[in-house]
Amino acid sequence: MEVIVKESFEEMSKAAARVVAKVLNLKPNAVLGLATGSTPLGLYQELARMHRDEGLDFSQVTTFNLDEYVGLTRTHPQSYHYFMQENLFRHINVPQQNIYIPSGTTDNYAAFCQWYEQRIRECGGIDLQVLGIGSDGHIAFNEPGSSLGSRTRIKTLARQTIDDNARFFSGPEEVPVYAITMGVGTILEARKILLLANGKKKAAAVAAAIEGPVTSMITASALQLHRDAMCTLDREAAGELRMLDYYEWVQAKMPNAP
Ligand code: PGA
Repeated sequence: MEVIVKESFEEMSKAAARVVAKVLNLKPNAVLGLATGSTPLGLYQELARMHRDEGLDFSQVTTFNLDEYVGLTRTHPQSYHYFMQENLFRHINVPQQNIYIPSGTTDNYAAFCQWYEQRIRECGGIDLQVLGIGSDGHIAFNEPGSSLGSRTRIKTLARQTIDDNARFFSGPEEVPVYAITMGVGTILEARKILLLANGKKKAAAVAAAIEGPVTSMITASALQLHRDAMCTLDREAAGELRMLDYYEWVQAKMPNAP
């Protein structure tokens, strides 16, 4: 895993945006896997700026989001449909018909999940998957105990996730209990993975994911099995990494690597 540590959220977000832009420059019709939450907000702002000021083009891009709350309509202010529209899509030029987000209101979840997986395959697979990490080590809504081979399905949210996300709702009892989420197996099939984490609250989960054993109890640890996974962190989120000096040494030495 490549570990990149930046001094601030802003620098972390800009570094992540450069990774996305590089993928799009090499492959203008890339398929992007996208995440929601507070973590990617800076990345999305920077992508919007690059689109506006530098002409970064999304006109051939297809996107697949990781997850959605069950029971929230696409116009609900806390739905991930709404989040993506507000924080990214209305600021860039991805064609609406190329945007895929799991449905929180389908009447047949099993069929929808199968269709979602099939659509990812039909679009050629995900070239770059953006991820955040939960304080319980989850990626997407793959809570502790999720199979590392799991596919898109319904998950029951962990108590900790409900508490973490209660800040967006009027209280924990308002947070949906179920979500539809890509599986760990789905995520691992992306050609490249970019995990972002910032803040002290994520430091323990980040250390467990990068340096702990591969375990379904920290689903982000499954990224250790991926051949091209990059973790871009701010200084606080990197605070519990035992090998931090080494990761920084690697980055410093990289320009001269043979
Ligand atoms: P956050 O959520 O970005 O809002 O911290 C991350 C996650 O739960 O995956």
